[in-house]
Amino acid sequence: MSVAIIYGSTTGQTEDLAHRIAAELGSEVEAIRDVYMTSVEQMLEYETLIIGAPTWHHGQLQSDWAERYDELEGHDFSGRSIAFFGSGDADRYPDNFQDALGILWQRFEGLGARLVGTWPIEGYSFSDSQALCEGGSKFIGLAFNKFDQEELVNQRIKRWGQQLRQELNL
Ligand SMILES: Cc1cc2nc3c(=O)[nH]c(=O)nc-3n(C[C@H](O)[C@H](O)[C@H](O)COP(=O)(O)O)c2cc1C
Repeated sequence: MSVAIIYGSTTGQTEDLAHRIAAELGSEVEAIRDVYMTSVEQMLEYETLIIGAPTWHHGQLQSDWAERYDELEGHDFSGRSIAFFGSGDADRYPDNFQDALGILWQRFEGLGARLVGTWPIEGYSFSDSQALCEGGSKFIGLAFNKFDQEELVNQRIKRWGQQLRQELNL
């Protein structure tokens, strides 16, 4: 199965996380690409996409994802599996924590993709998010919070990597 990590990142946090997740998944990951340099046609070359998206400007997509968002219209992602991870800041933006994941998933879901890698909300403190699923008990994907301790980030990456391997039969 071909797997690519596609991330958007303005200040480098999501890019860094993309490389750390790739290191955890090892040779399963064929490519790590910045969405800025990746067309929708190039995304469709992979069976599984691991999408990294920070939330910007009070609940908005990061600028490079915002560009691709419009271009995704009309493409067919059926048969593709998509996992999400997001960077956000629940302390400063508690009402919009990780909104970008929800915005992007809504788009890909409409194009026929299958969601993998949902993540429990336990251990996070926020008021509202567009990135919730399963009756509000889970995030669409793995959520990173700006001031998380390194140790916690490492633990989450490890656990999510194991979860993805199981869900995707990697
Ligand atoms: C102006 C501004 C607005 C932001 N808005 C949100 C937001 O609405 N929700 C959220 O969860 N995080 C928000 N953040 C936090 C960013 O998502 C966080 O800093 C993230 O790590 C940036 O990722 P990047 O370096 O990959 O671009 C915001 C940060 C800034 C500077």
